Amino acid sequence: RDEKVWLTLSFGMIMAFMLITGYQTFALEMGPPSNMETIDPQKVDETAPFDKPGITQIGENEYEVVMTLEIFSFNPSNIEVPAGSTVHFIMTSKDVVHGFQVAGTNLNAMVMPGHIQRISQTFDKPGDYLVLCNEYCGAGHQMMATTITVK
Ligand code: CUA
Repeated sequence: RDEKVWLTLSFGMIMAFMLITGYQTFALEMGPPSNMETIDPQKVDETAPFDKPGITQIGENEYEVVMTLEIFSFNPSNIEVPAGSTVHFIMTSKDVVHGFQVAGTNLNAMVMPGHIQRISQTFDKPGDYLVLCNEYCGAGHQMMATTITVK
């Protein structure tokens, strides 16, 4: 009778482990949100809007930044916008997974090859905002940085 209890217990534990592992695998495989737009990472330079990376004014206080990330740079780099601007970032990676984090703001996004990342931010306070890659992307990862200047 005791044996039966132990058997049931150990079976239950095995089932629990399997469930946890299964859940983790499932959660990991979900990856990026499925509503994310995709792009051929081999053809970023030829695919609009990434064939023309840069900053464009699209409204009175509104800018669009089309940006490509690659080891170990942001293109365009050293962006300048007037204080009070809302900036819409449209980003993709040309090689590996990079991060896009802007110090002093809530901006923090993963930029993956094959996917288009869109995030927006209003910059009210003038200053130099440090932009960092926060995903390890290779030997030059620590040097992958630029600034957004709000004037
Ligand atoms: Cu790009 Cu780290």
